[in-house]
Parts: sequence; structure tokens; C-alpha cells
Amino acid sequence: MHKNAPIGVFDSGVGGLTVAREIIRQMPEERIVYFGDTARLPYGSKSRDTIIRYSRQIIRFLRTMDVKAIVIACNTASAYALETVEREYDLPIIGVIEAGAATALRATRNGKIGVIGTEGTVGSGIYTEVMKKMNPDIRVYGKACPLFVPLVEEGLLHDSVTDEIASRYLSELKGRFIDTLVLGCTHYPLLRSTVGRIMGSDVTLVNPAYETALELKSLLEQKDMACMPGSADGDPDKYRFYVSDLADKFTAFATSILPKQVKETKKIDIELY
Ligand code: DGL
Repeated sequence: MHKNAPIGVFDSGVGGLTVAREIIRQMPEERIVYFGDTARLPYGSKSRDTIIRYSRQIIRFLRTMDVKAIVIACNTASAYALETVEREYDLPIIGVIEAGAATALRATRNGKIGVIGTEGTVGSGIYTEVMKKMNPDIRVYGKACPLFVPLVEEGLLHDSVTDEIASRYLSELKGRFIDTLVLGCTHYPLLRSTVGRIMGSDVTLVNPAYETALELKSLLEQKDMACMPGSADGDPDKYRFYVSDLADKFTAFATSILPKQVKETKKIDIELY
């Protein structure tokens, strides 16, 4: 695999852009091919078998772009599919859960950690499993927040409706006296200020996107697969974006999140892969 090949990043939609944004910040030399499965979103309410099938198709598509590594920038797909697909493909594939879990364990002082995510991620119990393996004494409280994704998709990041819904979802976790909260869904970092205000300043919010980018960086360095400095300078295709539907809507959203304007998003038929 060539060092200067792109990194493949995928999510069910726009949420994984929070991970792509961190990769761009921490590894500005790297090329990225991003796929958002906008035709089949949400993943959070689908079964394990379906998410594994979708993930395989996306990995097959990304491999046609000669990616050197893949980041599953979706908590639900990381929860359900990572273990299966990392065994099936001969390239490094990482998810977002291990990194988020490890950071939360480092952050907590009272040993009580909350995790918010989709029904799929919270229902899978994956964060609890991973954290308990690292520290059996830790207490983990999960709460699914299914309305957060549509609120973000609608752009209601700072809105009284979002405040009301967030207060309802988070009251249960507040009652548990957690001191650390994992934003266990790729959309949730975009609601960080609302969640932070409701939880209060004593609760540390963990964004797995940041740690995932760090993990990717050290993995590429360790395998001597980091991009050669300057090799992507002036490359108009340094960042490429693909979706399974609604390309223009994606372009507008991506431009609002990423440090650079996204000029074009291509729509592909993912069922062909
Ligand atoms: N990207 C998904 C995740 O991180 C949330 C959106 C969805 O349900 O598809 O779990």
C-alpha cells in the first residue's frame, strides 16, 4: 500500500465529518476519501446484520479508491461491524469506540461514566464492555438519545426545542452523578455546548473523534504509512466526498463543518458494491 494513498472514512451520513475534521486538523498532509451513506441513514435503529452488510459494501467501495486505511467514523457501525470487518480485510480498520472509552477512563475521578448514543450503540452495550475490560470497577450508564441525530440534521444546534429534549434525555444521567460523559454518536459533538450547559462544568465531555484521529496518526506512523510531507500540496482531489443520496445537502453541511469549502460531492449507487 502506498504511503501517499488516501485514508477512507465512512459514516451513515454527515456525523462522521466531525471525525474527518479532526483528521484534517491533526494530519493536514493526508488525503481523505469520505463516504456518507445518506440514502440508508439512520444506522442507529437498524440491526447488526444490516449494519455489517452496509459496512462491507462501503469498504468494498473505498477499496476501489486504493485507500491505505479505513476509519469507521460511526459509533453504531463501530459497535456492530468493526470486529467482523477487521478480520475480513487486509488493511488497517479502526473504529471510534476504543479511543472514546480509553479517554473517558482517564478523565473520570469518581468512576461513574455516562455514555449517550443511538439505540444501536447504547443497546449493544459495547462502551460498557470495552470500559469494564479496561477497568472492572468502573460504573457505566448508557442513555439512547434517538432525537439528537434528526435535530442535528435539521441544523437545530442552538434551539429551544433541542434544549428541551436534551434536558429530558440527560436528567437520568444527572441523577447518577456521573463526572464524565462520552458523546457516543458522531453527531453529538455538534451539540456539545447544549449538552455541556445541561450537564454542568463538573462533567467532562469526551469526544471520541479527537482520540480516534490521534490513534490513526500513531498507527500510520508505527506502520510507516504516513503521507510524505507536501505530497498532497495543490492536489485538487485531496479531499473527496461521496454519498448514496442528497449530494448537494451534504456539500452544504460539510462546508459548514470543515475548515475548507467543499466544492463537490458525488452520488454513487452503493448497492452495486
Ligand atoms: N453516525 C451514527 C452514529 O455515530 C449516528 C447516525 C445514525 O443513526 O445513522 O452512531
